[in-house]
Amino acid sequence: MSTLHDIGTAGRFASSLYRQRADLWWAGRVRGDLLSRVRLREGRRDPYPLYEQMRARGPILPTRLGNWSTTSHALCSQVLRSRQFGTRPLESAPGNTPIDLSFLELNEPDHTRLRRLAAPAFSPRMMSTYETLVTGCVDDLIDRAGRRGSFDLVDALAAPLPITVITSMLGIPDAHAATFQRYGAAIGGAIDGVRSVRHARELLRANVELERLFESLFELRAREPRDDLVSAVVAERGDTIAPHELLPMCQLLLIAGFETTVNLVGNAVLALQRHPDQWQRLVDDPTLAGSAVEEVLRHDPPVQETARVAHAQVEVGGVPVRKGQYVMVLIAGANRDPDVFRDPERLDITRASAADHLAFSGGIHYCLGAPLARLEATVALRRLAERMPSLRLDGPVVMRPSVTIRGPLHVPVHVAGALPRPRSGSHARR
Ligand code: HEM
Repeated sequence: MSTLHDIGTAGRFASSLYRQRADLWWAGRVRGDLLSRVRLREGRRDPYPLYEQMRARGPILPTRLGNWSTTSHALCSQVLRSRQFGTRPLESAPGNTPIDLSFLELNEPDHTRLRRLAAPAFSPRMMSTYETLVTGCVDDLIDRAGRRGSFDLVDALAAPLPITVITSMLGIPDAHAATFQRYGAAIGGAIDGVRSVRHARELLRANVELERLFESLFELRAREPRDDLVSAVVAERGDTIAPHELLPMCQLLLIAGFETTVNLVGNAVLALQRHPDQWQRLVDDPTLAGSAVEEVLRHDPPVQETARVAHAQVEVGGVPVRKGQYVMVLIAGANRDPDVFRDPERLDITRASAADHLAFSGGIHYCLGAPLARLEATVALRRLAERMPSLRLDGPVVMRPSVTIRGPLHVPVHVAGALPRPRSGSHARR
């Protein structure tokens, strides 16, 4: 079984995005322990009973491959925040070598240097600027879908929204947005690994094309800078950021920007439709959209797990984790830890502690795009509740054939038309 390690920076990102160890993943499948069952069809359908079985066996369990896994909220937080763990082994840290795996995979200090460069684009001030764009985009998509009556929620809203926002944020010209999206999706969709030689070839092609597109965008924005993220980063080329670091960083933002939020909106609509009392609560009070988003992030997070490797011997939950051993951080299991969340199985959009979830990870790799994801999902839910209160599931839901990223591919819904856009007072609230 091949991993994505041989298909370039974008492919390496796909392998590393929220799953640094595709090889552990595949090997784990073969061995038949609980963790591997999470990764088979059983887990893809509903991993939550398996997380509970793991929890019943203890807060931290050895894996068959000599690593560890944990569903404990306290231990997941400890590992994510600990300086004794990293996203890659110390020995393989790229340092200043020409091979760059983007800052999601970097340890300090390179991680901090590159993350700082992208961070201003996600500041609260920028979020209030994007709110107009996000609201306009959601309203346009709802208008279009409402005219059809029956539609696929993912195709009509959950997928196009984050793509529109991230391409605009990066400064990708409208004429090229669809092409960037096509190649980005091909790479981002391979997060669990490469399935076949054909799949590897498709990814290679997508990788080459995406690099070509970005290189010409860098040249364009070097000549004609605008008020966008690519222009800002290109301006630092050769200074804060080395030329070879530019491309992986932009690819990271592009793919992270749409491969996750689509599933948050999809999971949210699905959860609310499967709990009609909660949907009704939101319809009755659309200002609950922000807390509904937090509860869905807790209850069914789009990124189910990540991993960290020990940089030194360290004790976690009473067991000695040796240098070089991985801890599989089962975010979705931690989000249902009864020590932190009362009645964790229950979906409650008014739950006060929902924001204690680990859906955006923790520590230095805490999701940089979290404010943007929250903004997009909150506006989407609020507008759906305001403008499509009659929304109902209308056919079989198809889930992604993926484990690390969980969300629906198709959510067929029906609605008796869309109500007009509210005139004002439509600010996203948390
Ligand atoms: C619901 C949507 C999202 C979820 C659930 C999510 C989840 C995560 C998680 C779990 C991590 C950390 C992985 C780890 O600790 O190993 C992460 C990192 C990251 N995310 Fe997100 N993400 C979302 C949306 C976004 C968006 C919209 C963007 C950007 C436009 C983004 C950009 C990033 C970046 C750049 C990192 C790396 C941060 C670092 O290493 O310092 N994410 N995300």
